[in-house]
Amino acid sequence: MTAVKRIQYHQYGGPEVLRLEEFEPRSLAPNEVLVRVHAASANPMDWKIRDGIMQATTGRAFPRGFGTDFAGIVEAVGTAVARLRVGDEVLGGASPQKAGSFAEAVVVEEDGVVNKPTNLSFVEASALPTVGITAFQAIVREGEAKAGQSVFVHGCLGGVGRAAVQIALSLGASVAGSCRPSATADARALGIHPIVGFDFDPETLAGQFDLILDTAGTLPKAATRMLTKRTGHLIDINPTPAKFARSAMPGPYQVLIAQPLTADLDTIARAAGQGAIQVPIGRTVPLADALSALTELELHRTPRGGKLVAVTE
Ligand SMILES: NC(=O)c1ccc[n+]([C@@H]2O[C@H](COP(=O)([O-])OP(=O)(O)OC[C@H]3O[C@@H](n4cnc5c(N)ncnc54)[C@H](OP(=O)(O)O)[C@@H]3O)[C@@H](O)[C@H]2O)c1
Repeated sequence: MTAVKRIQYHQYGGPEVLRLEEFEPRSLAPNEVLVRVHAASANPMDWKIRDGIMQATTGRAFPRGFGTDFAGIVEAVGTAVARLRVGDEVLGGASPQKAGSFAEAVVVEEDGVVNKPTNLSFVEASALPTVGITAFQAIVREGEAKAGQSVFVHGCLGGVGRAAVQIALSLGASVAGSCRPSATADARALGIHPIVGFDFDPETLAGQFDLILDTAGTLPKAATRMLTKRTGHLIDINPTPAKFARSAMPGPYQVLIAQPLTADLDTIARAAGQGAIQVPIGRTVPLADALSALTELELHRTPRGGKLVAVTE
């Protein structure tokens, strides 16, 4: 395979370890596809992986590619690939072990890659995989939200939070949430009510919720007990060893690690194609300028409230 440009790193560390370099994609395993990447979007998980906090899972083989989420066109398929064909427009996520979506091309397993709805651009499609799958699994699979129920989303305007709000509303649940005071109008426009700040007093919403999704992982235990109905669920997507221990105990608290299920991504992609899930794009940059944009996003949180997407020419 010919060499392509990709953002990669040769050791775990901060944003300074990232380089835009030439890289030769590996030969395809039978269940893998080569995708010519048109757009790749950034997620907080990408820099957590690069920092090395998941190295028990991600290993010590370098160079490692940066980024998981992408949209592009299938350029080659392995001998056992049955669902995807050369020329298909797709979106998907690379596993944390084999990341590398900020690139001109990426090799990924067929599982976790789905056809792109024709009415979504590559940029829009690239923003969906991680936030869509996580929100879907939190609200639908684990949270089992239903029409008539009340859901609270802590961090309701982040990537996962916003997707979760839209999924819960589409099921017929009502959604309350927390955001920065300056973003209240944005939350109201999404259909969230009531809207509170990140440091709200839980007593004001005591006992109201069937499901709480804590996207920031910062809700104190006492607050979540107060907010949740007796039969409610609490889902936290920011794992720590202590949280896993708490999650293993009987009770409503659960730490969720999203799984890259093809069926779930397909559901999200179809919903986005019908306009039911929209993930705002905050900034689009050419891959050649993505290093500085990624550093600004990580260190200064800009753009806020929208995805950073790198596009190839
Ligand atoms: N377990 C999993 O499988 C999984 C999957 C995906 C993501 N995650 C993790 O989930 C987190 C959220 O991901 P994301 O993609 O939604 O990130 P994101 O787009 O950066 O959104 C984070 C949101 O949290 C808000 N926030 C900031 N400080 C807060 C506070 N003190 N309390 C409540 N909310 C606060 C932010 O608001 P402002 O923008 O106004 O600051 C923003 O809306 C990340 O840590 C990510 O690594 C886990």
